[in-house]
Amino acid sequence: MCPVPAPQFDLLPTHTMLSLEQVERSLERAGQSHVLQFWPELCEEDRDKFLQELSHLDLEGLKDHCEGTARAAASPPASLDQHIEPVPPESIGSVRKSDQSALSQWENEGLLQISKNRVGVLLLAGGQGTRLGVQYPKGMYNVGLPSGKTLYQIQAERIRKIQKLSDTKHGSKCTVPWYIMTSEFTLAPTEKFFKENNYFGLEPSNIVMFEQRMIPAVTFDGKVILQGKGKIAMAPDGNGGLYQALVDNNVLEDMKKRGLEYLHVYCVDNIMVKMADPVFIGFCVSKGADCGAKVVEKAYPTEPVGVVCRVQGVSQVVEYSEIQPETAELRGPGGELVFSAGNICNHFFTRPFLQDVAEKFEGQLKQHVATKKVPYVDTCGNLVKPTKPNGIKMEKFVFDVFPFSRNFVVFEVVREDEFSPLKNADGAATDSPTTARSSLLAQHCRWATAARATLLDEHGNILPPTASVSAGDSPPAQCEISPLVSYFGEGLEELLKGKTLPTPFILDEKMAKELQAQ
Ligand code: UTP
Repeated sequence: MCPVPAPQFDLLPTHTMLSLEQVERSLERAGQSHVLQFWPELCEEDRDKFLQELSHLDLEGLKDHCEGTARAAASPPASLDQHIEPVPPESIGSVRKSDQSALSQWENEGLLQISKNRVGVLLLAGGQGTRLGVQYPKGMYNVGLPSGKTLYQIQAERIRKIQKLSDTKHGSKCTVPWYIMTSEFTLAPTEKFFKENNYFGLEPSNIVMFEQRMIPAVTFDGKVILQGKGKIAMAPDGNGGLYQALVDNNVLEDMKKRGLEYLHVYCVDNIMVKMADPVFIGFCVSKGADCGAKVVEKAYPTEPVGVVCRVQGVSQVVEYSEIQPETAELRGPGGELVFSAGNICNHFFTRPFLQDVAEKFEGQLKQHVATKKVPYVDTCGNLVKPTKPNGIKMEKFVFDVFPFSRNFVVFEVVREDEFSPLKNADGAATDSPTTARSSLLAQHCRWATAARATLLDEHGNILPPTASVSAGDSPPAQCEISPLVSYFGEGLEELLKGKTLPTPFILDEKMAKELQAQ
């Protein structure tokens, strides 16, 4: 995926219904007459729906969109090697390199801000999850933990726990509102799922779901793709569609009304995500940052993650495809990678910064080319599921606002504690349900062992703690700790110290009460 200048494409805000003749003329001008090739075969109802959909598209902008998209996909990525430099050390914080007192100070600052109702979290959940390949939103996925919890449930429980921790520390009752950006694909099933699950114990009025925009997918020669005889293939406009969606849905006004000053933005697929992480928030607030990125050290030079760095003095994320392997492999005096700050899509923003982006910079966001397998109807009207990428979706990325920051900071965290994304179906070497589940269980085994419990396997043998996990490893012990009991390993010693625990073992609130009573 590479950033390229391409025209912005918009949906029209109004719902004026155009006539068939008007649509025909506009499509012809845009070189897209094939869109109506199956019109004679459509029934009255489908014609109405299709005309409505087409009236809602910016048909005048369609020509530029299609031609610009095809051009962008054909141009090679720009090489940035000459201009790239690491983020300066004074803008970087690190969990591994900081002493306990600095970490506690940041955590206290974060908890204070949370207790004053100044912190919200925002989940990016509009993606289609094509690599995982399920027909429902990724947040509803159950990776096979002993508890059977889905990603949405784990996240909801982390919010409940961080509210409780802040309340206990500061003696006040606080709320961390949860904003969830969805798309046409994910909104309805997500709403239904939350309702069916009683909002996982959260107050429904503190969960705000909104939808991002969709744009047409285009073939490599610049033609809009039909996914049905009367339906254009539309795709969400990337997670950077967030900034337009904040405006479209008055989310910034809602934040202001609630008194929020800071927003923690994250992806749906990272099973380890620390929602409203007080250490990260405290670090960013202490540094007076308007924008911050959590990163993990890159595992190896060719790892396909973007790197947070500077290009001609401006903070941004550079994709692996935008630099030469020699640059990716550069090492410092201690043997560490020079460009090691792996972006994990976990960001801090102040509300005024988001307001600025929405008002002044949204139109300047880059567009990235993503080639995808887009199901389409062929000229005979048969639905085809391509086995190779056949279409282009233009996407904006959430991190592309970094260049507009006045005080940008980076916070490096420990990968095995905070990052294990679910991207692929099982069978893939990385980022699968198995690796996500194993990462979480391994962390919980480490927490239990650090709390001085002894874990036993099913034969009664003592289990060693597992540090990190890769796809080929045997699964760690089935020791799962509910976020409602511990947010990040705290509070476990009083429950587990000196205990011998046969696995599988689930430490939920009920078990915690029983252990406390022992
Ligand atoms: P990915 O780039 O991993 O995309 O999204 P995806 O849709 O989940 O999966 P694939 O590529 O189709 O397999 C990273 C994060 O950005 C969100 C996703 O929901 C995920 O949390 N996202 C992505 C959006 O919110 N909107 C989008 O348009 C795209």
